[in-house]
Amino acid sequence: MPFLELIDIKKHFTTKSGGLFSSSNEVVKAVDGVSLSIEEGKILGLVGESGCGKSTLSRLIMQLLEPTHGSIVLEGQNLTNLKSSEVRSRRLDFQMIFQDPYASLNPRMTVWSTLSEAILTRKPQLNKEELKQNVIKLMEMVGLDKQYVRKYPHEFSGGQRQRIAIARALAPEPKLIIADEPVSALDVSIQSQILNLLKDLVNNLGLTMLFISHDLSVVRYIADRIAVMYYGKIVETGEAEALMENPQHEYTKELLESVPKVLS
Ligand SMILES: Nc1ncnc2c1ncn2[C@@H]1O[C@H](COP(=O)(O)OP(=O)(O)OP(=O)(O)O)[C@@H](O)[C@H]1O
Ligand SMILES: [Mg+2]
Repeated sequence: MPFLELIDIKKHFTTKSGGLFSSSNEVVKAVDGVSLSIEEGKILGLVGESGCGKSTLSRLIMQLLEPTHGSIVLEGQNLTNLKSSEVRSRRLDFQMIFQDPYASLNPRMTVWSTLSEAILTRKPQLNKEELKQNVIKLMEMVGLDKQYVRKYPHEFSGGQRQRIAIARALAPEPKLIIADEPVSALDVSIQSQILNLLKDLVNNLGLTMLFISHDLSVVRYIADRIAVMYYGKIVETGEAEALMENPQHEYTKELLESVPKVLS
């Protein structure tokens, strides 16, 4: 049984077209019949150009958007049939990491407040001392020195800020992490450090990860399997090595040709 299975997922947005006074509607097929599965403990890389529907797909998995069609099955449980109270408790099992940690972290919250708040969502019964131990453990896990616990996001570098965002995502002890372009805003020299950290965390904690990027060189570095998305559809999936060596779809070939050799 796959850990997560998407079965023919569609998300169509209806928007007004032709300007303010036009009455005609246009349908944007952001996600248009995606079937995918992720095995437990593995990293699935989702790659495709801007606007192909990657973030929409991640919001559907996070239950932040309702699919127009299709079902999402987590560990054999169909999420599309859940009551909203059940969705809320299951949502702790999925956490996200975003492109810009500066935007996703609250600038007025120290590392301590950010992490302790996130830990308490899962373990509200912890006392102050236990909470402190949990915060320190998380900081160690992501390679942040505990002496920075009272500092604010703006006092850190971009890479360190992303480490805080990763620690926050891990705090509720999720099973699935969706990382949406987590290194795209970072300097190339920092990218591989963060990718290695994510890889280690998945291995050591037994997490499952959906790793999203427009950049195939980044995806191949981290993913076990790769799915290539193009205009709302998955055009090719395969083991990372095999897909890189023997791409079948024209679009995958195009992506491969544009890959810089920096991370290879
Ligand atoms: N709420 C919405 N209403 C209407 N259209 C939307 C909405 N959200 C997304 N879209 C459209 O759906 C398509 C897919 O968007 P999405 O953000 O999922 O792409 P993406 O692959 O994540 O792109 P990027 O790489 O730039 O982040 C785009 O054409 C976008 O304009
Ligand atoms: Mg996106």
